[in-house]
Order: sequence, then C-alpha cells, then structure tokens
Amino acid sequence: MKVLESAQALVSTLFRLVAYIFLQVIPHHLGKTSLPPLYLLYLLLAFIQPPVDLVPPKATLTKHTNGNGESHETDKDEKVFKDTTPTRTIPSSDRAPSYGPLSVLLLTLPTRSRALRVANLAINTLIFAAAVEFVAYPFFDDAADVVYTRIGAMYPDATKLVVRYPGDSAAHREVRVLWRQADAADSWNNGPVANLTSESDWVATVRLDGLWPSTSYEYQFQDTNGTLLPYPSRPIRFRTFPDPQLNSGSYFRFLASSCLTPNFPYLPLQGRRIKGFDLVAEHIWPAEKQSVPLPEVTSVNPAPPAADESSSTSASVSTVPESASSSANEFATTPVSRASSVTKAPTEFMIFLGDFIYADVPIYYGDDKETYRRLYRRNYQSDSFRKVYERLPFFHAYDDHEIINNYAGNSNDSAPPFANANEAFQLYNAQANYDSPVEGQHYYEFRHGDTAFFVMDTRRYRSVVEETDEASRTMLGEKQLATLYDWLGRVNNTATFKFIVSSVPFTSLWTYEALTDSWAAFTHEKAALLRALHTVPNVIVLSGDRHEFAAIEFTGEAAAHTVLEISTSPLSMFYVPIVRTLNMASVDTVNRTTQVVQQGENGTVEVTEVVEQVPQERVLRYIADGNYKWSSIEVDTRDQDHPVVNVDIMINGACAYNLTVHGQPVKLRSATALGAYVPQSFKGVLDKFGLKPSRWF
Ligand SMILES: *[C@@H]1O[C@H](CO)[C@@H](O)[C@H](O)[C@H]1NC(C)=O
Ligand SMILES: *[C@@H]1O[C@H](CO)[C@@H](O)[C@H](O)[C@H]1NC(C)=O
Ligand SMILES: *[C@@H]1O[C@H](CO)[C@@H](O)[C@H](O)[C@H]1NC(C)=O
Ligand SMILES: *[C@@H]1O[C@H](CO)[C@@H](O)[C@H](O)[C@H]1NC(C)=O
Ligand SMILES: *[C@@H]1O[C@H](CO)[C@@H](O)[C@H](O)[C@H]1NC(C)=O
Ligand SMILES: *[C@@H]1O[C@H](CO)[C@@H](O)[C@H](O)[C@H]1NC(C)=O
Ligand SMILES: *[C@@H]1O[C@H](CO)[C@@H](O)[C@H](O)[C@H]1NC(C)=O
Repeated sequence: MKVLESAQALVSTLFRLVAYIFLQVIPHHLGKTSLPPLYLLYLLLAFIQPPVDLVPPKATLTKHTNGNGESHETDKDEKVFKDTTPTRTIPSSDRAPSYGPLSVLLLTLPTRSRALRVANLAINTLIFAAAVEFVAYPFFDDAADVVYTRIGAMYPDATKLVVRYPGDSAAHREVRVLWRQADAADSWNNGPVANLTSESDWVATVRLDGLWPSTSYEYQFQDTNGTLLPYPSRPIRFRTFPDPQLNSGSYFRFLASSCLTPNFPYLPLQGRRIKGFDLVAEHIWPAEKQSVPLPEVTSVNPAPPAADESSSTSASVSTVPESASSSANEFATTPVSRASSVTKAPTEFMIFLGDFIYADVPIYYGDDKETYRRLYRRNYQSDSFRKVYERLPFFHAYDDHEIINNYAGNSNDSAPPFANANEAFQLYNAQANYDSPVEGQHYYEFRHGDTAFFVMDTRRYRSVVEETDEASRTMLGEKQLATLYDWLGRVNNTATFKFIVSSVPFTSLWTYEALTDSWAAFTHEKAALLRALHTVPNVIVLSGDRHEFAAIEFTGEAAAHTVLEISTSPLSMFYVPIVRTLNMASVDTVNRTTQVVQQGENGTVEVTEVVEQVPQERVLRYIADGNYKWSSIEVDTRDQDHPVVNVDIMINGACAYNLTVHGQPVKLRSATALGAYVPQSFKGVLDKFGLKPSRWF
C-alpha cells in the first residue's frame, strides 16, 4: 500500500514537472507524447488504491472532482501547496501567493487523506486540460472569420496593403480601397479593388500607387455597391518612405525579431494573446497606456547626438581610432548610455525574420493547405498583434517553422510539405513584401532613404547538409547568390548602411543544432560572401532563430571593413534556461594592423603599427534569457560624416543593452537613373492640375 502511494505521488510529481516544462519553459514534442501516458498512469494508480475512509472512493471521487472542477483556480493552487504538509486541516484564509498557475504545484507527496487525493486528482485533471487547450487551440478557434488589414511594402510613391474580409455564400467578393491624404479632409479617392475569393481564403494584397514621398495617408474600405464597410472603424494610417534622391540623410527606426507562438508561456484561456506584441505596442505608443508619460517632448534636441561620440572604449593605451586613417573602415562599436534628452526617431516598420507560425510546435498539425492557413489567421486574429500591424508596416522572411523544423528545400518545390506551406506564407505574408527582382521568389531588396536592405530566403534552395559534402553545399542557391552579389555591388556606394537579413545566424559561433542549421554548415559559401562583405562599408547582418540575443563582430584582413551581426529572438516564445549555446570567439584568427598613437611627455606624437591576432568572429554581447526580445534599430545619417546606427535590445519590454555603431562615411552616388521623385514643394502645383506624379516621372 505504501508502495502504491509512493508510486502515485511519484507519477503525479513527474506529470506536473513535465507539464510545467511543456507549458512554461519549452513546448517540446516530448511533453506532448509523455503527458497523456503519465496522466493515464496516474489515473490508474488513483483508482486501484484501496479506500482509506469508509465511503467507497469511486463515488465520492467523482463528486468531488466535479465540484472542484468548477471552483476557482487559486483555490486549487492553495490545496496542492498545502499538500506538502499533509496531515493538517487547512484554514482557508491561509493563501499561498499565486505566481504562475503551475509553478507552485509541482510536488505531490504520498498521502492517505482522501480529501487531498481528490484535490490532487482535480489538479492533475486541470493541468491535463490546460495541456490539451494549449495543443488543440487552433482547432477550436480556427479564426475563419477574422477580418483584418495591414500595410506591407512601403515605397516613396506607393504601398501594398492586405485585406481579409470573409464573404458569405458567394464564391468571391470585391472590396474597394478608399484613400486620402491624412489630415487633409479631402474627399476620398477610389483606390484599387481587392478581389477576395474563398479559394484564396478571402485574403488579398493590392497596391496603392500615385502617392507622395514622406506623406501620411489613410484608408478604409467600401463595398462595391458604395456602402462603407464597418472595419476598420477608424481609417488606417500610414506614411510613405522618403524620396531616396534627396540626399539629406536618414533618421528613422525599425524593429527586427523572429519566432512567435500565441500564448506561450501558457496561461489558461488566453489562446489569442501574443505577449511580445503587447510589449512592442506599449513600448512604441506608451501614451495610450499611461495617461501621463514622461515629459520628453519639452526638451527636444533636433541636433544629431554627436556629442558623446568621443567616449571610445578602446584600450588603456590611447589607441585613438583616427577617423580619417587606419580605422576609418572599421565600425567603432560603443556601448553607451545615451542622454535621455535626445529624441528618438519614429519607428517606421518591422522586419519579421521568420518562425511567424510554428507549423510543428507543439505538434505538427498536418501538411494540408487549411492547416497552414489556420495558423496565419490565428496570429492575425490576435488583438495583441492587431495593435501593431494596424499601425506599422510589416515585411516578412520565412524560416523553417513556416514549413517544418530544420527544413532544407534543396531547390525541389514539389517535395511536400513545401507547396502548401509556401502557399499560405505567400497569401498571408509574402505577397505584401517587396517584389523580388526575380519573379516568384521570396528574397527581395528595398531601400529607406539612403539605407539599403536585402532579405534572404535561406530555406528553399539550401542543400541537405547530411547528403552533401561541405564544398558543394549552398544556402542560397545560384540565382539568389548572384542577385545578392549584384545588390552588394549596387548599394556599395549608393547606400550608407546596408542591412542583410538572414533568418538563420550568419555567425558560426552557435553550437548544437545551429552547427547544421545555420550558416556554420555552409562554410565555403559563407567565406566567399564574407570576403565580399568585407569590401563594403557599413554592413550589418540581422538574424534570429536561436531564441537568444547576440551581437557579433566579423573582422577581416588588413583593410577589410568590419561586419556586424545582430541576432535577436524570440519575439514571443521559449528560451532555453541555463544551457548556453554560444562560443564567445572563433578559433580562426586574422592579423590586424592597428596604429597606436602615443604622445611623449615633450609633446611629440609617435605612431607605431601593432599587429595583433584577433578572432575572425567575436561576440560583443550575449543575452540568452528572455521570452520577449526584439531589436529597435535607429539609423541616423543626417550628419553624413558621422553616420550612426543605435541598436536598443529590448527584453521583456525594457532596454537590456545599447549598441552604438559608428559607420564609415560613404560618398553617395545616385542610385539609378530612374525613380527620380518630385520634391515635396512641387506637389501642390501638380495637385492643382490633377496630375499623378507616378505617371509622369
Ligand atoms: C474575382 O475572382 C472570381 C473568382 O476567381 C472571378 O470569377 C472574378 O471574375 C474576379 N473578378 C475580378 C474583377 O477580377
Ligand atoms: C451593399 O451590399 C452589402 C452586402 O454586400 C449589403 O449589406 C448592403 O445593404 C448593400 N448596400 C446597399 C446600399 O445596397
Ligand atoms: C523532388 O521531390 C519529389 C517528391 O519527394 C521527388 O519525387 C522528386 O524526384 C524530387 N526531384 C528532384 C529533382 O530531386
Ligand atoms: C565596393 O567598393 C570598393 C571601392 O569603393 C571596391 O573596392 C569593392 O570591391 C566594392 N565591393 C563590392 C562587393 O562591389
Ligand atoms: C599572423 O601573423 C603570425 C605572426 O605574427 C603568423 O604566424 C600567422 O601565420 C599569421 N596569420 C595569418 C592568418 O596570416
Ligand atoms: C621627445 O621624446 C621622445 C621620446 O619620448 C624622443 O625620442 C624625442 O627625441 C624627444 N624630442 C624632443 C624634441 O626632445
Ligand atoms: C539605452 O539608452 C536609452 C536611451 O536611449 C536609455 O534610456 C537606457 O537606459 C539605455 N539602456 C541601457 C541598458 O543602457
């Protein structure tokens, strides 16, 4: 009997421990497979235990379970907590502090008290129900009716926008965009018509042309019979990108992160919550939460924050990073605490670097079209996300979990599940991205003023590591690689900062699974690409995927430009506690020559060249913990001699690390002959004649 009691307590404890890890730490598939057997075993042990009291256990058990099943959650917290002191009767006022619903419930001790056994049974049943809710949520809340709109690709003279409006019985329905300049009280212009069909899940992307650079607009929707549609209840606003021909420099901010699953860490009955987006919204638009925000606006300082640049962190010998000579082609990366009186540039968009849905976490729901579509709809249904996508343009890359874990497409689109996964990604996320320079591709490039971006597709063409030797492996495929090199050549001297977006880390410092899933396994392609990147000033790689944050510096030979990588994730998902998976520096080193300037006591200046061996890849900062992480990246090129990127690493809603990147000045050449935009001042004149600039220039 003792044995039975102990076995039951053990199984119960194990069950709770696994459930805790599964719902609060990592939603690993082992949890999904081991929870049902553990629960069944627990039930079995519970029912074969002989009665302790005179009352037949089965009848009362059922009764009590029902009673408990309906009572309040914290009640149960309390009972289990008390379970650790079994023989006592418990005064009900003596309440345990309630943290997470599961965190105090882990241990079950053997007990002969019937009441405690019943309480245990109720608690374990609730925990099991929680696991079922978490896993099966997309099935009983399939978001089929979700109505939404969002802004995608933004241009100086156009934008793409997505609309979903489910129809009734008809096979299709048409919805017209009405748009006008914001704050102008003009009449509404008829925009493009979105043809929504059941075939394409009632979602469509249209392009709105004929806009002015750096101008705010708003839009809403109309039925084709002229009725204004109820959603959005207030017109949605957006602001076009600046005219890249105006070389006045950039001053803007954008966000980057990856990896999200609604309601993880799990809370009961919160299946639509994506806490990472709640935190993003609070951070960008705090005024809406707290009615009295910091009186920041009063001390506006319009000048660029040039003052504290001299605070170099270089070695104790006065290794002066001479702006003109040797280290001019290096980033000077300085962690600083910037003065709070400096205004922040407005956040203009977010780049999502993949794992937007987890098709296979906590379970693989299936590989049919509807299953993939449902997971996208589920995210757009989230009020947390809605707060952000209704106000901020989103550009997407996909990663493996939009398809399946560690997916390597090997250029074969017909191998399942790519086609169905791709169709859903295309419909919900990719169509509103910038058009790829190559038809039908997911990689693309875009510009914001004098800043250039290239977003890679690291999944569709990558070789299967296990089936190829190192030299023949490709991550991007020939065509994408050619497009990337071409872009590099074009932006080299036409953009100040160049951001390259890779869903998986470019660095080889991450270990474990990253050794085969990141660029670490693609050594030849990576080395060649890195050689090219070292010839281009101000390259910053953005990545995600590892559920950790790290800033990494890549150093090249002699005159090479330093390359920086910022890897930030997850936006709203698990992180791995305790285990650390990042090496701090690569084994491979390069010889770097730096000039050390020493000032003698009599006033003379002596310059000596010092050759030092530095790691090819080196971690500047590593922060693993945090369920909610994103980078807020500010580009400031208003002072063309001192272009700066300020990176704020946001973790759980607060800034955990600041990095200031001092770029090298780039003498910009005009990007292309085409795409010359009319300066703002001509706008009114042309407006009077009813001319749409996009038709003329
Ligand atoms: C909209 O789509 C439906 C179904 O594909 C098609 O029959 C209809 O002609 C389309 N309408 C327009 C205006 O393209
Ligand atoms: C327009 O069509 C919608 C349904 O598509 C209907 O609800 C509405 O009453 C119609 N309005 C007019 C003015 O016909
Ligand atoms: C692509 O995948 C399909 C399905 O797995 C397979 O039948 C076909 O042979 C593959 N094609 C190539 C070129 O490998
Ligand atoms: C970038 O420009 C520099 C000269 O300004 C040149 O040496 C380098 O090869 C160029 N890099 C690429 C990738 O075009
Ligand atoms: C760097 O310099 C050391 C001598 O200072 C030399 O032994 C080593 O081979 C050099 N490494 C590279 C990669 O050139
Ligand atoms: C200044 O000091 C340096 C050594 O620090 C010495 O080599 C040099 O001759 C001195 N110059 C004068 C003008 O004294
Ligand atoms: C980062 O900079 C901001 C000001 O831009 C400051 O408020 C914040 O405290 C800094 N955070 C850290 C961790 O230094």
